[in-house]
Amino acid sequence: MKASAPDEVCELYEASADWYSEMMDSEIDLPLYSDTLGRLHHKIEKMQGTLIDTACGSGHMLKMYHDRYDKNRSLLGIDLSPRMVAIASDRLGSSAQFQAADMRDLNSIEDGSAVAVINFFALHHLDSEDAYRALCEWNRVLQPNGQLVIATWEGAGAIDYGDESDIVALRYRADEIVSLVDKAGFNITRSDVEPVEGFSMDAIYLEGTK
Ligand SMILES: C[S@@+](CC[C@H](N)C(=O)[O-])C[C@H]1O[C@@H](n2cnc3c(N)ncnc32)[C@H](O)[C@@H]1O
Repeated sequence: MKASAPDEVCELYEASADWYSEMMDSEIDLPLYSDTLGRLHHKIEKMQGTLIDTACGSGHMLKMYHDRYDKNRSLLGIDLSPRMVAIASDRLGSSAQFQAADMRDLNSIEDGSAVAVINFFALHHLDSEDAYRALCEWNRVLQPNGQLVIATWEGAGAIDYGDESDIVALRYRADEIVSLVDKAGFNITRSDVEPVEGFSMDAIYLEGTK
């Protein structure tokens, strides 16, 4: 099964960005976000480099990182949807840089310039070949010992968006995503499958080091 093309995915998020941002105003208070970012901060606080969110959506995770953990960290948010980028940019002001770009090709970012790459709930928009390509690209921009933090929908087959959209997005089994991350050159330090409040699907939370 093929995931929908980026222009169709972009169209979905252009149309739903404002709604999504409002939803994240409360979702960001779920413990998983502060647990994940707190753990990341502990690992990178003594390292230099940019923290990149490669599918930043409405920018809530970057905002939490800035406000709660490190006001001096250089932050970069990337997202396919210009509307998402505009919302995230309004949220963070001068505290972060943003680019409307594709997470598979980070052409403007130098090798080894990032201390961490985070990607929450966006890999389901890529086929496994493209997910591998994206992971290799994230590995390229990370410095040695840089950190990778991913969350994606776990399981098999397509995600049912109901009446909301007919785009095709894919779930990955834990062993599939672990294998892709490993093949892209990361040492995996955490891989947990957990339920997500309010959703019928589980998510896999994966952390790794370059
Ligand atoms: C479900 S939202 C998650 C947003 C954010 N990471 C969060 O957890 O709130 C998925 C995001 O991935 C972005 N996205 C999808 N495909 C992308 C791609 N190829 N490159 C960059 N961003 C992409 C969408 O525009 C959308 O903002």
